[in-house]
Amino acid sequence: MTSRVIVLDFGAQYSQLIARRVREAGVFSEVLPGDTPARVIREKQPQALILSGGPASVFEPGAPSPDPAIFELGIPMLGICYGMQIMAKMLGGTVEPAPDREYGRAEMTITGDSLLLAGMANPSVVWMSHGDLVRTAPPGFEVLASTPRTPIAAFAYPERHWWAVQFHPEVHHTPEGAAVFRNFLFRIARLVPDWQPTAFVEQAVADVRAKVGDDRAFVALSGGVDSAVAAAIARQAIGDRLTAVLIDHGLMRAGEIEEIQRAFADIDLHVVRAAPQFFRALQGVTDPEMKRKVIGREFIRAFEQAQEAIGPTTVLIQGTVYPDVIESGGQGHAKTIKSHHNVGGLPSDVAFRVVEPLRWLFKDEVRRVGEQLGLPPSLVWRQPFPGPGLAVRVLGEVTEDKVAVLRQADRIVREELVRAGLERQIWQAFAVLMNVRAVGVMGDNRTYGYAVAIRAVDSEDGMTADWVRLPYEVLDRMASRIVGEVPEITRVVYDVTSKPPATIEWE
Ligand code: XMP
Repeated sequence: MTSRVIVLDFGAQYSQLIARRVREAGVFSEVLPGDTPARVIREKQPQALILSGGPASVFEPGAPSPDPAIFELGIPMLGICYGMQIMAKMLGGTVEPAPDREYGRAEMTITGDSLLLAGMANPSVVWMSHGDLVRTAPPGFEVLASTPRTPIAAFAYPERHWWAVQFHPEVHHTPEGAAVFRNFLFRIARLVPDWQPTAFVEQAVADVRAKVGDDRAFVALSGGVDSAVAAAIARQAIGDRLTAVLIDHGLMRAGEIEEIQRAFADIDLHVVRAAPQFFRALQGVTDPEMKRKVIGREFIRAFEQAQEAIGPTTVLIQGTVYPDVIESGGQGHAKTIKSHHNVGGLPSDVAFRVVEPLRWLFKDEVRRVGEQLGLPPSLVWRQPFPGPGLAVRVLGEVTEDKVAVLRQADRIVREELVRAGLERQIWQAFAVLMNVRAVGVMGDNRTYGYAVAIRAVDSEDGMTADWVRLPYEVLDRMASRIVGEVPEITRVVYDVTSKPPATIEWE
């Protein structure tokens, strides 16, 4: 039997990151709601359990709490942040509000030998984010570490395999966080690292097959890696009962439709020419959330029209990945940051079932799965492109003319990036058409045209991102070509904000 770890989710925005770190260590992991009954957990036969962090305080009425019977399961358990506090509370320790909320890096002193923190530097830098703290450890527990503001930064009851940390080992701000997971998985729970993308593919194929049943399904290709990988999985699962649909919403990049048609020449692919209806629906819409909702709605309408053409299908396969889910507030208590069209923008009257085989994966995991499936590298390594297309990069009202202007600038940015050999190293690079005009001079004439921003970011999974220090020569070539070749644009600026606090897209 393959190793399996269950993460109980208490509503942390980043709880899936925990599962991902476990998978990175080579152990299959899935997330279940924090209050999943112990009986259900036992049936899944996990060899270890992790209790996630969460925004609540254990003092709040109705604070999320695990089934007390999980402490009788006899399997190793790791509490993280809120997970530690709820363990402390349920097992007889004391938790109290911290004098001030602790947020950020802290220096942690390890006070004894422990399997969990073995191999970490001492002192060690850890990431803290909590409003309450554990004041006294429950009976039987020993304190493993502290920071200046957190007297109990880690505790354990080794004989019962109960371990917990107040800090967040899952975020990169805890540089040695991976060691905590490795220690927990391999030294404490003694698991075997046997999870590989192959295992994921097998499981996902079986899952899609079960969910689709005897029905026909269709998949919406966007040209991006997510939908391509979802399509490849679905094709393995249901063969020629799968039809691919490409909605030409008029918001694609230059040459994109033709590229997709070439890449999917061997699949039953319908291109739906729907640009006029999208532009009509977008008339007068300036609010970014509203744009996404309108586009989401038009997508579904266009799919429905496509469905009439391709015959009855009851299932829609979508390449939704985890960051889309989390940022759309699709999970637990995480707040909505943007509704990604393929999740939050879906109207409630959708006429088919949606199957999302990649829902729990991060982009780089999707790429590994894509390679495993044998998809062409040009597709697997393509930079992400948002479902709502260039509409979220045209600030203010989206019109066909503005999109045409942006498309030219975007093509230049991408061409220059390829020429500089930087395309693969950079997560995303693109142009944004701003809703401001700027004065310029062309020959002897004063001009008054659009301003464009260039955005280039590095990221591991799209959840956080750093702006890229593009060489000045590259920026210079991009800017000169844009103002030289696109007469409507008179000014180019470079976006030097990271995520957070900015998002990658401007809208
Ligand atoms: P943000 O702007 O939220 O973007 O920092 C994170 C990543 O997601 C992409 N993105 C989207 N992808 N539908 C998608 O399929 C969307 O509505 C959407 N909005 C943003 C964005 O390009 C970046 O890679």
